[in-house]
Amino acid sequence: MVVTVLGSSGRTGRHIVRLLVRQGHQVRAGVRDGRRKEAVDGLGATPVVADLCVQPDELVDVFTGSDVVINAAGAADPDPAAVALIDRDGATKAVRAAERAAVRRYVQLSAQFADAPDQGDRLVRSILYAKQVSDAALRRSTLVWTVVRAGTLTDEPGTGRVTIAGHLSAGRVPRQDVAAVIAACLTEPRSENRGFDLHSGRTPVPAALAALDR
Ligand SMILES: NC(=O)c1ccc[n+]([C@@H]2O[C@H](COP(=O)([O-])OP(=O)(O)OC[C@H]3O[C@@H](n4cnc5c(N)ncnc54)[C@H](OP(=O)(O)O)[C@@H]3O)[C@@H](O)[C@H]2O)c1
Repeated sequence: MVVTVLGSSGRTGRHIVRLLVRQGHQVRAGVRDGRRKEAVDGLGATPVVADLCVQPDELVDVFTGSDVVINAAGAADPDPAAVALIDRDGATKAVRAAERAAVRRYVQLSAQFADAPDQGDRLVRSILYAKQVSDAALRRSTLVWTVVRAGTLTDEPGTGRVTIAGHLSAGRVPRQDVAAVIAACLTEPRSENRGFDLHSGRTPVPAALAALDR
């Protein structure tokens, strides 16, 4: 499959790109700025500039020819204005651009509690509300979608074992395991047109996804 990954230079994005390349996909590693291409050097992917703050037409051009778009981008600055620009409006724009580019499949890395965002401090709330909006846009789109609502991300090594459910209490998950789940979604029909919470756990990734209800 031809897969475009938004936020490829990020800590989770790099894991996703590396894994998809290893699995034999043709990966377009989206970076927000040409100067960030070096951040994806050596991953085996083709760098493409994909800034969520540009005009929608530019994103349509970037996505054209992709079977799948994965959004692992997020605002570097937790200021609510930056979060609204990238995690809400930028992520929503990317969904609309993928529809126009005739992309079939779209996977969004969201955050746990984005579907119940009235919690946490001001900064956490602004992130959750932003993701709630873009998650809803994806859910209501014409794309075959998955929303992965990950718990707190860590840089511990992945274990390949996770807990996936409609709703979980607060928890954590290594970025490497998030990448494994997102990559596995591309070949697991049970992950289509649904959202779920994700933590580390005891179930191997393929089995955890296969156990999702139809
Ligand atoms: N932190 C948590 O505990 C947690 C929990 C659940 C979900 N999440 C979400 O998971 C996602 C990945 O998190 P992470 O910690 O792996 O992210 P990260 O390391 O901060 O990487 C974020 C990525 O987004 C890119 N980006 C920023 N602005 C952009 C723009 N305008 N256009 C395109 N790309 C842009 C960054 O590019 P540069 O490298 O050029 O800056 C980077 O590649 C984020 O959406 C985050 O909100 C986080």
